[in-house]
Amino acid sequence: METVSTQDFVQAMGQHVSSVCIITTTLNGERFGLTATAVNSICATPPRLLVCVNTSGSTHAKILAAGVLCVNVLAEGHDEIAKAFAGLLGKDFDKFSIGTWTKLKTQSPVLNETTAVFDCHIAETIKQFTHTIFICEVVATRVTKNTAPLLYGNQKFRHLRKIEAPKSNTPEVDDTLQY
Ligand SMILES: Cc1cc2nc3c(=O)[nH]c(=O)nc-3n(C[C@H](O)[C@H](O)[C@H](O)COP(=O)(O)O)c2cc1C
Repeated sequence: METVSTQDFVQAMGQHVSSVCIITTTLNGERFGLTATAVNSICATPPRLLVCVNTSGSTHAKILAAGVLCVNVLAEGHDEIAKAFAGLLGKDFDKFSIGTWTKLKTQSPVLNETTAVFDCHIAETIKQFTHTIFICEVVATRVTKNTAPLLYGNQKFRHLRKIEAPKSNTPEVDDTLQY
């Protein structure tokens, strides 16, 4: 069966809104990182997630060599840091000059004030054309309560908005979903 054109695929994916993450790693005492939205949960037992990274970027080889990475889920107000790690503030911009950084288990850089952090060992890599899918074993997490995630969709950074319940006589429902 014929596949769709790259243009049609990219246009449709633009409607797939994601939270914005910074993927970091450390190798020989140096820090590396990139902005990524291609991050998702695989399963909760055991805790595994996946990250897709373009092989042409400079961080890709560092993640492969280090065997560890950290997913920093950005919060509202982190759009400048997202641009920095996407290379949009210039190639020579010192990415780690923005924000305050710490570490968890793997020694990969952890950004303070993120909504969530997943510190990971890489369990498996799968090459798919221009990208590597990193299958990650989560060894530590951190959640910052009362922070809202930064989103990216339709070519723009966006904020999360809760659906306002209609003002009516309908009884209150629990709108908390679990999966
Ligand atoms: C919103 C946004 C999402 C992105 N998502 C990804 C992604 O999921 N995977 C990826 O490899 N690059 C992604 N990029 C592109 C990288 O951030 C960009 O190519 C970066 O310059 C790579 O840095 P490096 O060459 O230092 O590794 C994204 C960029 C933006 C602005």
